[in-house]
Amino acid sequence: MQLEARAKINLSLRITGKRPDGFHELETLMCHLSLHDDVRVEETSGEIALSLEGADLSAGPDNLAWRAADLYFKQTGLKKGAKIHLVKRIPAGGGLAGGSTDAAAVLRGLDRLFGTNLPFATLCDLGGQLGSDINFFLQDRPAICTGRGEKIEPVTLLDQWHVLLLNPGFGVPTPWAYKTYAADPKPGEPGRLAAQIERNGEKVTWPLVNDLEPPVFSKYFWIAEAKSWLRGQPGVLDSMMSGSGATVLALFASEQDALRVSEAAAAYFGPSAWRHVAAVNPV
Ligand code: C5P
Repeated sequence: MQLEARAKINLSLRITGKRPDGFHELETLMCHLSLHDDVRVEETSGEIALSLEGADLSAGPDNLAWRAADLYFKQTGLKKGAKIHLVKRIPAGGGLAGGSTDAAAVLRGLDRLFGTNLPFATLCDLGGQLGSDINFFLQDRPAICTGRGEKIEPVTLLDQWHVLLLNPGFGVPTPWAYKTYAADPKPGEPGRLAAQIERNGEKVTWPLVNDLEPPVFSKYFWIAEAKSWLRGQPGVLDSMMSGSGATVLALFASEQDALRVSEAAAAYFGPSAWRHVAAVNPV
């Protein structure tokens, strides 16, 4: 069985408090992208075997996809194994949740493959044990995520955007970003654009903002420069960092404009920068 494990972007990320467990209380609007990894799961009688292509990452028990499979078998008590193969396209440590979406696809894939039909709440319980943004990928709609990020409220995104993703070729460690924020908490600067969403049947304007930008920009100048450069390009509605970075995104009404700015970015940032144009919230 093969699944598409889509990337996400955060159109907003507000930190609303510090929790006793050391995590931060969030309110974040996330949506899926057409950019995706492929996840193949097959039944075996024995162990969990993970392989991957397209990235130089561990395929052992420390990989979140492996851990998701392990947790699934522990939960269900099935005396089976699985062969899992990942085709990676989403850059690691990029604020696009590449590891989390693969783990969610493994949970969904194994549940379907073995016909266990776990209730959504049980899948969410497993997702929450694996990480903060896995539950978002257990469903297919844009969502406002709260708590650590694991509480999902699906909403409708009324905007139709294309996004240019620009990544410097290095990752930002998420724990570092939150720790640096906590040492000097100040809100991110609201963007010049807002998303239009429908929440509980009501239209709501949702400003674009990312509270992790100030701490990350204070150390990673490339990321701050990418945002400011993108904001000056023709056709760019707005630009911001996704999650804890390092990926910077620019939103466009037209795919053509996104592709044009992607070419200009290649000339400006050089060949080491990773670029990708994707649809936001694809059908
Ligand atoms: O849960 P996840 O593995 O995505 O979190 C990575 C790290 O990011 C955590 O170990 C924590 O340092 C930080 N984090 C946080 N508050 C959140 C989510 C993540 O402090 N709500």
